[in-house]
Amino acid sequence: MIFLKKILIFLSILPLALPQDIFDPDTFPRPLIIEINEPHLKEVQLQCTSWRVAVEANNLSPWKKIPEECGDYVRDYMTQKGYEIDLQRVCNEAGIYARSVNMSGDGKIAWIFDVDETLLSNLPYYADHGYGLEIFDSTKFDQWVEIGMAPAIESSLKLYEEVLSLGFKVILLTGRSERHRSITVDNLLQAGYRNWDKLILRSSEDHGKTATMYKSEKRSELVEEGYHILGNSGDQWSDILGSSMSKRSFKLPNPMYYIP
Ligand SMILES: *[C@@H]1O[C@H](CO)[C@@H](O)[C@H](O)[C@H]1NC(C)=O
Ligand SMILES: [Mg+2]
Repeated sequence: MIFLKKILIFLSILPLALPQDIFDPDTFPRPLIIEINEPHLKEVQLQCTSWRVAVEANNLSPWKKIPEECGDYVRDYMTQKGYEIDLQRVCNEAGIYARSVNMSGDGKIAWIFDVDETLLSNLPYYADHGYGLEIFDSTKFDQWVEIGMAPAIESSLKLYEEVLSLGFKVILLTGRSERHRSITVDNLLQAGYRNWDKLILRSSEDHGKTATMYKSEKRSELVEEGYHILGNSGDQWSDILGSSMSKRSFKLPNPMYYIP
């Protein structure tokens, strides 16, 4: 079967090659041939896709780092088109929902955004740390946060601007510490985010809590203040699950790390 496929691929590329180059091995589309020749690589790809789907469906919790054999896979997903296309899909769907919301009422209809890997991308940091192959190191990560150079996630910025223009109150709810407030504000402004209603960070009494607990408590407080939480965007299930959940939530892809 594999031999037959090779023959078919060979025949299909023949018309593309110049006659004098046909038997020059350099003109073959090498990645294609290598992929077909290496059933092992194909299997690893499938296993890693399966792993990523299980991550996104929240079937794997908790996990500490990506599987060794999926290092290249996750790097390629994050840096080639896959991640971007998945982000666009989630944000487009969120936009369709946002436009369908009846905005009449007391003006306290809210959309919550998480910050890291939702509004801001830490991909430059994770590129230096194996895209999740290394166990999370909060000291090193804090050093990166304190530079304040995380770029915007473009599809989130587009959604952000749309929900603002629809009249949602935008609440930013992040696991970042209160001591990073001013650098986080600078970074968000630098990345193009504007006019949020509140930026909620972890205060000292929140530090022992899981993200699910902390974010649930903060959502409950928002509801007590009269907000109607109709939309929520986050890259972690702990941004979304718990109590006082949003009417609709949108899970952005993140195969690099898991926060309980
Ligand atoms: C929107 O809500 C208001 C008040 O809750 C209601 O009067 C109005 O009919 C609703 N509009 C639509 C299109 O459902
Ligand atoms: Mg996040």
